[in-house]
Amino acid sequence: MSFLLRTVAVLIMLTFVLGVILPTARGQRTPESPVTSWRKLETPMTDNCALCHQRLGEPLSRQVAEWQGSIHAWNGVFCDTCHGGDPTSTILTVAMGEQNGFMDAPLPEAVPDDCGRCHPEALESFWESAHGDLFEANDFEPECVTCHNSHDVTEVHIDMVSMTAACGECHNQDYIDEVRNPLIDTDGRIERLYGQILAMPGDNPNAPYLRNRLVRVRKEFRGLAHYLATNTIVTRRQAIDRELDYIEFMLHFDDSTVEGK
Ligand code: HEC
Ligand code: HEC
Ligand code: HEC
Ligand code: HEC
Ligand code: HEC
Repeated sequence: MSFLLRTVAVLIMLTFVLGVILPTARGQRTPESPVTSWRKLETPMTDNCALCHQRLGEPLSRQVAEWQGSIHAWNGVFCDTCHGGDPTSTILTVAMGEQNGFMDAPLPEAVPDDCGRCHPEALESFWESAHGDLFEANDFEPECVTCHNSHDVTEVHIDMVSMTAACGECHNQDYIDEVRNPLIDTDGRIERLYGQILAMPGDNPNAPYLRNRLVRVRKEFRGLAHYLATNTIVTRRQAIDRELDYIEFMLHFDDSTVEGK
């Protein structure tokens, strides 16, 4: 059976089995759409979105497998957190009912504002960049999910700026170097400092303090890639370098007091 036929067959079957009519009118997402729920962080997990979708077969089950290993799944961002709807219901028209805030998957042009509800700094830097500038002219590409995916979202890493990552689909090495070169040394420095902080004795009261400061500045640093232009990255990197100087100073300061004991 062809892919299309199979999908249609599954849908018709579901319509009969569940005795429901597939919803026709659904909400369209706008930048003002609320973040629908964090409730499952507090209550035992009832995630019928994932449970039903898992059984649907392609192209509607892949998202569950991808999402399960994502950084979002581990941080309480569930299907309904992004898509809306009522995850406690097993009935399609209720779970995915507009009355319960369900919204169809966002169109490419709506994705930045959609992800940006929770990642405002990323959104801002994206709009400020050449990618944001030419977003409409370039058929809404690249946007957040071009580089990060929509369900299989993982922790970011400098190696996302490379020919083998999304960049290679559109650019040559020169473009990549423009972004990667001003980041690479600082990236190495942050990893080195992080290793040193983790290696501090557990009873050292400075360890959690320095770790928090480093995690915060690392997050800020990892947002610099979005700006794309070397000049902007170098300018914005200066405050980050100063914070790293301070953290490094505190680490060494600490060494000497330990040795002095
Ligand atoms: C009883 C099974 C079932 C449950 C429960 C269910 N879904 Fe679905 N979902 C489907 C089916 C079947 C489709 C494809 C037909 C359609 O779009 O109505 C679908 C389609 C979708 C789509 C694609 C819509 C589009 O843009 O075309 C999204 C997104 C989605 N579901 C999310 C959710 C979320 C979020 C929940 C929980 C709040 C949920 N689903 C609960 C069966 C289910
Ligand atoms: C972080 C937000 C986010 C979460 C969490 C999320 N989705 Fe999505 N989903 C999206 C976006 C954005 C799209 C738009 C499609 C794209 O460009 O990939 C999408 C698209 C879809 C589609 C349409 C088909 C497709 O892949 O384009 C389905 C079905 C779907 N999601 C189901 C789910 C289910 C089921 C879950 C939970 C297991 C889930 N989503 C969790 C953001 C999310
Ligand atoms: C409901 C809020 C919410 C939405 C919507 C959301 N995210 Fe997230 N995202 C989070 C949380 C919470 C984390 C984990 C904590 C953190 O790193 O900020 C996270 C982490 C991430 C990370 C890893 C950051 C890192 O430091 O490594 C990326 C990349 C990401 N999200 C991209 C996206 C994309 C792309 C979308 C849209 C498809 C999206 N997010 C939509 C809440 C959200
Ligand atoms: C052209 C590819 C690309 C696009 C488009 C893109 N990102 Fe990123 N994003 C990256 C890279 C590369 C990094 C950082 C890698 C590093 O240096 O560790 C990153 C870092 C991040 C981070 C971690 C830093 C932080 O601010 O917390 C988040 C979250 C994130 N992106 C979300 C988004 C969102 C939301 C959008 C859309 C508004 C988006 N990204 C658009 C490539 C992209
Ligand atoms: C879907 C295609 C696409 C992807 C994927 C993509 N870009 Fe771009 N990029 C563009 C377009 C279009 C422009 C604007 C026209 C130009 O400068 O070529 C652009 C511009 C740039 C510029 C020029 C910035 C300036 O200020 O002039 C840099 C640097 C760049 N991209 C780096 C990257 C990096 C790094 C990645 C991967 C993390 C990436 N791009 C992913 C399409 C893409």
